[in-house]
Amino acid sequence: GIDISSLRAQTGLITLDNGYGNTGSCQSNICYIDGDNGILRYRGYPIEQLAEQSTFAETAYLLIFGELPGESQLQEFRNQLTEHQFIHEDMLHAFEGFPADAPPMAILSAMINALGCFQPVFMSPDDDDHFMDPAARLMSKVRTIAAASYRKSIGKPMNYPRSDLRYTANFLHQLLSLPHKPYEPDDVVVDALDKLLILHADHEQNCSTSTVRMVGSAQANLYASVAAGVCALWGPLHGGANVAVMEMLQQLHDSGMTPEEYMEKVKNKEAGIRLMGFGHRVYKNFDPRAKIIKQACDNVLDRLGIHDPLLDIAKRLEEVALEDDYFIERKLYPNVDFYSGIIMRAIGIPTNMFTVIFAIGRLPGWISHWREVHMAPAKIDRPRQIYTGAPKRDYVPMDKR
Ligand code: ACO
Repeated sequence: GIDISSLRAQTGLITLDNGYGNTGSCQSNICYIDGDNGILRYRGYPIEQLAEQSTFAETAYLLIFGELPGESQLQEFRNQLTEHQFIHEDMLHAFEGFPADAPPMAILSAMINALGCFQPVFMSPDDDDHFMDPAARLMSKVRTIAAASYRKSIGKPMNYPRSDLRYTANFLHQLLSLPHKPYEPDDVVVDALDKLLILHADHEQNCSTSTVRMVGSAQANLYASVAAGVCALWGPLHGGANVAVMEMLQQLHDSGMTPEEYMEKVKNKEAGIRLMGFGHRVYKNFDPRAKIIKQACDNVLDRLGIHDPLLDIAKRLEEVALEDDYFIERKLYPNVDFYSGIIMRAIGIPTNMFTVIFAIGRLPGWISHWREVHMAPAKIDRPRQIYTGAPKRDYVPMDKR
């Protein structure tokens, strides 16, 4: 029933690529992935080196401005992150309008859009000096909004940011400080979270980043484009997977089902269940981020003296998967989300904040892609489709239906 020839005559050949597995949507200088060999680089720098030697603020600068910063550039960026850490007091009223059990990702997306009403939305993306302000502003305020949304969800007032703390430690303070017990930053914990944010900072044309680019291609402002990215990230097949992994591990733990029994269910596709935190559209090999996170996970748990039975279950699931033909044939390996939840749980971050943390991490990537879209000659993204609906038919009046 599809009249391909008439489409061709009008528009040229349309390619159909379900899920865009082989379609390049843009040219980009930001992130390189070789999925067959498990390689990830930001602006040419291997992820392993950045995770080991950089900080989240420096990596954000690299992604957004294209080069590693000099000392004074990094200091200026850090100063701006501190300067912009407060949100307008009127925004606090907006938090009050959400129900107590509102998902923090819903609040985050809505409040980022609202932020655009309190900030200048006109910016010059091609001017590095100018763009540092909106980039730092958004990164800093998103962190404050994220922490405030959590505080709201537990019925507690927000913790105001502290100027003496750097980006990640400040976030942990805003999230976890209690009136009688201010959060005391622990280097190992802060480093682990910082590493986690670095590992999430960009991943080329994933669902949320493509969303940011597509919305941005309509010349929507940075806040509106990033708010759309947050919504895309929320999905369990994308950023929501870190929550799904923890739910899966907890379910195994509570039910007493063995990893082997669970894997049988996964392989038999019982009720469509999947091994969450496994598989990736691009990596058909180890996700290089998963290797780094697994190591960081061991370090944090050691340091905090925590023995988490969920980590034992995760490691056993991985062992079983790596020797099982189902996973080998389909090239399914642990992805970045498989171990990240265990680190966050050890740090004391509640499960409903996991995807929000992912969003904070991915923000520099979204900002840099939005900027790239706005620096290139503008062309709105507008894919085509293959129409599979009803052929032409005449309208039927109500009394004849
Ligand atoms: N568990 C069990 N089987 C799986 C899994 C999994 N986690 N992932 C893929 N498969 C199977 C599919 O059932 C399918 O099998 P079939 O050929 O017998 O039908 C085959 O592997 C191919 O799967 P697709 O869904 O076609 O692969 P796709 O590239 O579209 O999906 C995705 C990638 C969404 C990540 C998928 O692997 C998945 O659902 N994983 C679990 C969720 C997850 O961890 N998401 C996080 C991704 S990383 C990120 O966003 C940061």
